Amino acid sequence: MEHIVNRHGLNMPKLGLGTWPMVGEDCTRAVLQALELGYRHIDTAAGYQNEDAVGAALAATSVPREQIHVTSKVWWDQLEPQALRASFERSLRDLRSEYVDLFLIHWPTPDMNLRRTLDVIADLKERGLARAIGVANFPLALLREAVETIGAPLAAIQVEYHVTLGQQKLLDFVRQHEMALTAYSPLARNRVSEIPEIVAIARKHGVLPTQIALAWLLEQPGVAAVPKAAGKSNQTSNLESLDVRLDDEDRATIAALPKNERLVNPAFAPQWDDAA
Ligand SMILES: NC(=O)c1ccc[n+]([C@@H]2O[C@H](COP(=O)([O-])OP(=O)(O)OC[C@H]3O[C@@H](n4cnc5c(N)ncnc54)[C@H](OP(=O)(O)O)[C@@H]3O)[C@@H](O)[C@H]2O)c1
Repeated sequence: MEHIVNRHGLNMPKLGLGTWPMVGEDCTRAVLQALELGYRHIDTAAGYQNEDAVGAALAATSVPREQIHVTSKVWWDQLEPQALRASFERSLRDLRSEYVDLFLIHWPTPDMNLRRTLDVIADLKERGLARAIGVANFPLALLREAVETIGAPLAAIQVEYHVTLGQQKLLDFVRQHEMALTAYSPLARNRVSEIPEIVAIARKHGVLPTQIALAWLLEQPGVAAVPKAAGKSNQTSNLESLDVRLDDEDRATIAALPKNERLVNPAFAPQWDDAA
């Protein structure tokens, strides 16, 4: 499977398994099955309350831990240094791991002390407990402050990104800084299967609309995607989207779709940049 590698310690397979909102045995089963199918990238978070279930799968699988990329995240109410360190330690304990491969600030908050928060996660990276660090749901101005003003060694940002939500400004920035962008809700929670243009492209190639939506993300340099799928059939077809090739006509059709359909916008979300 193709990996994204960068100078800030990242070595991340382009396709991962999203685990929210799975918990408990269902989550363990789904992760174990994904590992069996060939997934080597699992996306979890303290906020998903499933790190213990992911950890159970990591302990039970025959796939060696060092062959699996695990991303986890700290929730926005745990960003004070002491709380952040404690949350990270719980993550390691629940994941039954000595390190995480990528550790993210899950959401920014208006009153966070950005420099102090970034210093804590940079220290986790220096100590080898987080192989790489990054952020999620940061608008461009805040990401710029983190990377250019503060100089934090961020390897990646995770944001909502799919055929009907653009992220061009963030993509331009991360490419300039040799970072990765992980697309969450990459299937727009399966709404992509109802977009006539995507259905038509899928029919032309003899594949599923979800595979077209993922192939479009995965062909982009520096972009990874973490579709969530509980069952074997959806996990398999999502994995097989790595083999789907789009042509220029497909790309033009997808480029012309609306790019402002944001699905994840909780009350604590920051002021987003205009989608582009
Ligand atoms: N950083 C953040 O703030 C943030 C926010 C949201 C999500 N995330 C991460 O991103 C992951 C994915 O996002 P998401 O769960 O919001 O949306 P998504 O991956 O776009 O969509 C998941 C939905 O699509 C269905 N599905 C998956 N594969 C399919 C297929 N091949 N055909 C038809 N339906 C399919 C799933 O059903 P089945 O399970 O039944 O297959 C599920 O209902 C999450 O699990 C989480 O890890 C991060």
